[in-house]
Amino acid sequence: MEFGPVPPARFDEVIQHLRLSFPDEPLNVSIGLCKYGEPCELLEHHDLMTLQEGLSVMAVDVKTGEIAGVALNGISRPGDVEKALEEMASIDNLQFHRIFGLLHNANKELDLFTKYDTDKIFELRILSVGSNFRGRGLAKELCVRSELIAEECGAKIIKVDATSLFTQKICESAGFKSIKDIRYHDFKDENGKIIYNTESPHDFYKVMIKELPSKKNSG
Ligand code: ACO
Repeated sequence: MEFGPVPPARFDEVIQHLRLSFPDEPLNVSIGLCKYGEPCELLEHHDLMTLQEGLSVMAVDVKTGEIAGVALNGISRPGDVEKALEEMASIDNLQFHRIFGLLHNANKELDLFTKYDTDKIFELRILSVGSNFRGRGLAKELCVRSELIAEECGAKIIKVDATSLFTQKICESAGFKSIKDIRYHDFKDENGKIIYNTESPHDFYKVMIKELPSKKNSG
């Protein structure tokens, strides 16, 4: 397996990889925003914007050249989450609102920029490994490599919105701490029906962060 940055010439392949892998993400399974093998315009717009930041990393099977996994990384700045919430108001898609509303509101409430006195948060936004390549430590390696990129960027903290128990375990083993635990089944609609009916063992969404060595921080 070879790890490296994602060149623009491979953005389409990354999107193709995500169409076959990311629909397994627990929140998506419960809400059904993206369907296996199909385009998912709203999420793909977000993915492409993140790829264009040039901070993502991919794992490539050297024998076949296939993209086995990706970590899509980007920098978040003060005001970004408020802007994203504003933009969501014009998007008429309940599934999108349910998923991104949950994530954005949790981040807005946390106000990590004030808490950690920084204007730059490195986010590991999407972690995905193709089903044929899972269980071999690829996601762990993508997480470790993303952390190195975050340090090079001079970020004070790296954050993961860990929606899957597996991502939470990966982050814990890499030294991240959870700063917010949200139990999916606590959210009910006006009829008392559970909104995020995630499958066990994915019971929580956790916002996980790791503080990075201060000597490389540039604020
Ligand atoms: N059952 C139990 N534990 C698992 C499983 C599983 N099926 N898969 C991973 N884990 C846990 C284990 O604790 C494992 O560590 P260990 O082997 O030391 O016990 C740890 O996760 C890391 O395993 P990896 O082999 O590095 O993970 P993998 O390469 O298989 O990728 C991933 C995990 C990315 C979650 C993959 O299953 C996937 O792409 N799923 C669909 C998309 C998704 O849910 N992405 C994460 C959403 S959160 C976000 O994107 C920020």
